[in-house]
Amino acid sequence: MKMELDPRPAPEPDRLSIAPMASADISAVMRIERASFSTVWPSDAFFNELSTNKLAHYFVGRIGDRIVAYGGIWVILEDSHVTTLAVDPACRGRHFGEVMLLRLVDEALERGAAWMTLEVRESNTVAQQLYRKYGFTTVTMRRGYYSDDNESALVMWAGNLKSELYRNRLGVLRARCNR
Ligand SMILES: CC(C)(COP(=O)(O)OP(=O)(O)OC[C@H]1O[C@@H](n2cnc3c(N)ncnc32)[C@H](O)[C@@H]1OP(=O)(O)O)[C@@H](O)C(=O)NCCC(=O)NCCS
Repeated sequence: MKMELDPRPAPEPDRLSIAPMASADISAVMRIERASFSTVWPSDAFFNELSTNKLAHYFVGRIGDRIVAYGGIWVILEDSHVTTLAVDPACRGRHFGEVMLLRLVDEALERGAAWMTLEVRESNTVAQQLYRKYGFTTVTMRRGYYSDDNESALVMWAGNLKSELYRNRLGVLRARCNR
């Protein structure tokens, strides 16, 4: 008897594989960028970050061959700054944003940072919730920070990343992510 071909597509693997962003990844990154932000970085901005900014560290996350997430930080001695983080809208809610943020925190720690900061739109409660989960608190607000619609930014900080308390928190969150 001939074997029936299984008509169901193979289930998509659920583990994000993270690698440093390369210039060949920028077009896939731009597709997510355009779907995620009202003010879009031009592809040149990513290219310049990868090619000329020694303080910048960018990553992409893949499911199989497909780029579904990216993120970046600058690390300047003990300070680090999340410059961007986004997940393909079709893949949100699967902890890919969290796994990417964990990668950024790990990168900051590996490079000696103790503090991490970022700006987030006042209305972006989803991202704020993610950042709070990772110990970020709002330290100030920049009024009218976003030029497209004049929305204010919350400035959030986390640290001391090197403290035992923070490392323990990271350990618990990492274990939950890896389940
Ligand atoms: C913010 C973003 C990166 C989150 O990525 P994601 O993969 O969808 O989120 P995750 O599945 O990793 O969720 C991690 C945490 O984020 C928060 N979160 C995610 N989706 C949420 C939702 N719909 N409502 C509230 N909180 C949410 C929760 O704290 C969640 O943890 P939990 O599952 O334990 O509750 C994603 O929504 C995105 O790309 N948004 C557009 C771009 C953007 O806003 N980037 C941030 C700029 S500062």
